[in-house]
Amino acid sequence: MNTDDTFFPLPDQDTFLRKAVHSVTTGEQFCTCPDMYHPAWSCLKALGIMHHLYYHAPALRRIITPLICRNAHILIAGAADDCSLRLLSKIAGPVPVRFTVADKCRAPLARVKEVGKQKKIEVNTFHGNISSFTSDLPWNLVFIHYTLTFMDARARLKLMKNLVAGLAPGGAVVCGVVLSNMTTATLDEAMIRRKADQWISQIFAKIDTVFSGHPHLLPKIRKMVTSYRETFPHVYLNQPDHNTLVKEFSQAGLKVAEYCDNPGAVLQPDDIPIPPLKSEKPIFVLTRE
Ligand SMILES: C[S@@+](CC[C@H](N)C(=O)[O-])C[C@H]1O[C@@H](n2cnc3c(N)ncnc32)[C@H](O)[C@@H]1O
Repeated sequence: MNTDDTFFPLPDQDTFLRKAVHSVTTGEQFCTCPDMYHPAWSCLKALGIMHHLYYHAPALRRIITPLICRNAHILIAGAADDCSLRLLSKIAGPVPVRFTVADKCRAPLARVKEVGKQKKIEVNTFHGNISSFTSDLPWNLVFIHYTLTFMDARARLKLMKNLVAGLAPGGAVVCGVVLSNMTTATLDEAMIRRKADQWISQIFAKIDTVFSGHPHLLPKIRKMVTSYRETFPHVYLNQPDHNTLVKEFSQAGLKVAEYCDNPGAVLQPDDIPIPPLKSEKPIFVLTRE
C-alpha cells in the first residue's frame, strides 16, 4: 500500500530492503547504540513498519511550508536515518535553508552527511545529547519527530527547555509524538510484555520472508529486532497523555500554535502494529509563550 500523496511517496520494497541490508552490514561500524537501534530501525522499515513520516508528509508539508523563511536554520533533533532531512529539504524546495542534524548516535549522522553530499543539501551534524546542544545560529524551525518518545518526563522537559533557548524570534518547534491513551489502570506492564511477545513471533515470520535472500543476516536481524522489542515496556509506560504533554510544553515556555490529530492514520497499511495497539500519533506546532 502506498500513501495517496505523490509529494513524498513511499519508496518501493527493493529500496527499503537494500537500505536495511546495507545498514545491518555496516551497523557495527557506525551504530553505537547498545541495542543496535539504527540498523533495527532500517529493518523495521523493510518489514513495513515505521513508515510514519511518509504518512505524515502531506500534513507536514502544509504545516511546515509557511514556517520556512529564506536562509532558515532548521534543526532536526534526533534523526534515526535520512528520511527527515529528505522530507524537510523537499518541503523547502528552492528556498535556501541550512540544516543541522543532531543525534546521539553516529549512524544516522553518517547517512545524513552522505545524502547531503548527494543532494547538495547544506547540512551540519552534531553528535551528542540534544538536551545540551547549543548553537551560535538560532534555529527558525526545530523538527523533533518521535525523539521525545524515548524520554521520561524530566528528560523531555530538559530537552524542550534547551530547544526554546535556541529558538530564533518567531521560530517554531514541530513535534511528532506518541501519546498514551491508556489509563494508568490499563497500563499494566505484564500486559504490555505479553503484547510485545506476540509481536515478536509475528515479526520473526515476516523477517524470514522479507530477508529470505540474505540468510546469513537472519540471526543478526532477529537479535536486533528482539533488542528493540525489549524497550517496549519501558517506552510505552513512559508515554504521556495529551494534557500532561501540553503542561510540559508550557513549563518549557512553549504554547501550542496548532494541533494536528493523528495525521495520515487512515493511510497506514495493515502491517503488524507495535503494541500497545491504540497509541495516538499527533503533531504539535509550538511557539514561545
Ligand atoms: C525515534 S528516532 C527519530 C525518528 C525520526 N525523527 C523519524 O520520525 O523518522 C529518535 C532518534 O533520536 C536520537 N536520540 C534520542 N535521544 C536523544 C538525545 N537525548 N540526544 C540526541 N539524540 C537522541 C536516537 O538516536 C534516534 O536516532
